[in-house]
Amino acid sequence: MLEPVSPLDQTALDALGTAALAAIAEASDLDSLAQVRRDWTGDQGVITLVNRRIKELPAADRAQGGKNVGAVKQQVFAALGERQAALEAKAAKLRLAAESVDVTLPTDRQPIGARQPLELLQERIADVFTAMGWTIAEGPELEAEWYNFDALNFGPDHPARQMQDTFFVDPPGSNLVLRTHTSPVQARVLLTQGVPCYVAVPGKTFRTDELDATHTPVFHQVEGLAVDRSLTMAHLRGTLDHLARAMFGEGAVTRLRPSFFPFTEPSAEMDLLCFVCRGQDSTCRTCGGSGWIEWGGCGMVDPNVLVATGVDPTEYQGFAFGMGIERTLMFRNGVADMREMVEGDVRFSLNYGVTV
Ligand code: PHE
Repeated sequence: MLEPVSPLDQTALDALGTAALAAIAEASDLDSLAQVRRDWTGDQGVITLVNRRIKELPAADRAQGGKNVGAVKQQVFAALGERQAALEAKAAKLRLAAESVDVTLPTDRQPIGARQPLELLQERIADVFTAMGWTIAEGPELEAEWYNFDALNFGPDHPARQMQDTFFVDPPGSNLVLRTHTSPVQARVLLTQGVPCYVAVPGKTFRTDELDATHTPVFHQVEGLAVDRSLTMAHLRGTLDHLARAMFGEGAVTRLRPSFFPFTEPSAEMDLLCFVCRGQDSTCRTCGGSGWIEWGGCGMVDPNVLVATGVDPTEYQGFAFGMGIERTLMFRNGVADMREMVEGDVRFSLNYGVTV
C-alpha cells in the first residue's frame, strides 16, 4: 500500500492518482472494484489518509493542500463511478446471457390422452340416429326391478331374473338391480315422453359374467325404440340395415333370425354376414363356419309393454332393438379381445385417434 504522501507534494500526488486510476482500470469485476474503493477511499484508504494530513499543514498551506488533494479525489471518484457503471453493465449482460432461454428449442413431447373407443363409438352411433331425427335418451344404471323386468313383460319366474345374470342390489328386497340391458329406458321414455317416439339409448349395462375375451360384466348397449302409428317390421329392418351400413360400410349384409324376448313379439336376433369369410369358409374362426355373427336382439314392441306404459296398442305399434357396443367395436375394428377395451391402456385407445 502506498504511503500517504504530503498534500503539498504535487508529483507524489500525481503518482498516487495515476496508481489509483490504474488499480481502478484493472478491477475486472464488481468485487475487486469494491476492494479498490476501500483501499483508496475507505476509512483507512490512501486518499482518505492524505486528506487527513491537510489539517497537519501550516494554516497558510491548507488551502493549497485541500485543492491538490481535492483534484486527485475528484479524479479517483469519477473513475470509480465510471468503472462501477461499466462493470455493472457487464455483469448484467453476463447474467442475461446465462439466464437466456432458447424459445425455439423443441420441448419434451407431452403425450396427449385419447378418448375411450367405446365412448367414441357410442357417440358415433348416436350421431347416426340424430341424423335420422331420433332423439337420444338416458336412464339410470341402478335401476328399479320393475323397469328392468316387470314393465318389459318378464314374468316373476323368468330365468333372466335369476342370480346367474343379474346383479341384485343390497339390501334384499330393495327391488333394485344394476340394469342388465338398456331396455328399461324403453319403459321410462314411453311413460315420460309418450308417443309417437323415436329414441336411441346408448349406455352401460351389467351382468354377472366373468371377464374374458368375449365377455365383460360391465358392458354397453345401444337401445332403439320407435313407436308410432303403422310401424311394421319392414321399418325395423330398414333401420337396422341403415345402422349396419353406417357402422360397417356399404357392403354390410344383415339377416333376422326368429328368437324370443318377453318385451317384443315377434322377436328376432339380428345377424351380420361374417366380415371375415363372408359365408365362404366352413372353417372360419370368426363365425364358427356358420357365415353369420350375432349382433343384437330386436322385434316389434310387445303390446303388454305398451299397456304397462299407458300406450294404446290398438292405435300404436313399435319396434325395438338392442346391440352390444363392445361386439360392434370388435367387428368394426377387428379387436380380438374385449379385455383390451376395459384395461384403459392409452396405447389401445390411441389407435382410434384423439378425436375430441
Ligand atoms: N335387451 C335385449 C338384450 O339385452 C336386446 C333387445 C332389445 C331385444 C330390444 C329386443 C328389443 O338382450
